[in-house]
Amino acid sequence: MEFLRAESCYLSKDGCRLVWQGIDEDDQHVIVLVKKELDQLLGLLTKGAAGKVELEDEFSIILVNTDTTQFQLKEYKTFEVRTGVLRKHLLDYRKIPYAPKPIKIYPKEFYPSIEIEKEDEQIQNQLLNEILSYKGQAAVSEDQLFRVMATRRSTRNFDTSRRIEEWKVEKILAAGDTAPSAGNFQGFKVVYVKNQEIKKRLVEAANNQPYVNAPLVLVYCMDPSRVKMNFPSKILKKFSLQDATLTAAYSQLAASALGLSSIWIGMIDEEKVKEIIGTDLQPSSILCIGYPHQKRPPKPRRKLKDLVHVIE
Ligand SMILES: Cc1cc2nc3c(=O)[nH]c(=O)nc-3n(C[C@H](O)[C@H](O)[C@H](O)COP(=O)(O)O)c2cc1C
Repeated sequence: MEFLRAESCYLSKDGCRLVWQGIDEDDQHVIVLVKKELDQLLGLLTKGAAGKVELEDEFSIILVNTDTTQFQLKEYKTFEVRTGVLRKHLLDYRKIPYAPKPIKIYPKEFYPSIEIEKEDEQIQNQLLNEILSYKGQAAVSEDQLFRVMATRRSTRNFDTSRRIEEWKVEKILAAGDTAPSAGNFQGFKVVYVKNQEIKKRLVEAANNQPYVNAPLVLVYCMDPSRVKMNFPSKILKKFSLQDATLTAAYSQLAASALGLSSIWIGMIDEEKVKEIIGTDLQPSSILCIGYPHQKRPPKPRRKLKDLVHVIE
């Protein structure tokens, strides 16, 4: 049952009817509140307080909590509604203006449950590595994914004499396809550039970054027209940018898992890239992948306590 509305009630002129709707259209449940009960309930809701309202039948009660309000009825039925929703409906019904109190946020430092007693300044990302390699009680082995995350490092120096096996390319593309996307509409397109001339031209469109001419070049484009959701175009564009970014990030991790390295290219002249690859879609990034000349350790990161702010 979902709470539907508050409406006037001919049985109690200054009270109201609260209506819940079931799955079927004719499946409705109504609770009638008399004036005294409605006033008491509104008293709690306007103060933002938790509390109890006893109904006239001397059995049923309304329990108001900050998040949910429960109506426990004499027929042993219980109906629920989010307190904020009930407040809005009842204040609108009584035409009482209501300005929600702003929530004050005091972010705190974040302390992970794993602590390092003596931090070794020589070891980079020590805490991050500890957390990623921690073996919890997961049903499947988490190790591999977290090891890939802990060891990934961008490269701009590819061994261009080594070609990437096709099965690896396929895995990289398939991994990108597993990424979540807004409404699962997958608002992006991946352009797999094999042509050497096009790769060279992409170097120019990427501020002359030479490593864009890599063994594997994937251009990620936003395709908001795929996102069939009833939102303004600005939102659909934002979704498609996030979709394209996520799929590239999944592929980047997969490449690392396969012993390859990559560099994410965000510094691109979008109009030039569009012209070079022959598309109307806006490119968001280029992922350049290959075997590295040398596999390097990951870069240092911020401390988690500086990165994460806790709101309790
Ligand atoms: C949004 C974004 C844009 C980037 N653009 C470029 C770029 O145009 N050229 C480049 O050489 N690296 C680029 N990078 C790569 C970053 O410099 C690199 O990921 C960062 O230094 C962290 O290193 P790591 O990937 O080894 O952890 C970009 C990365 C991201 C996420």
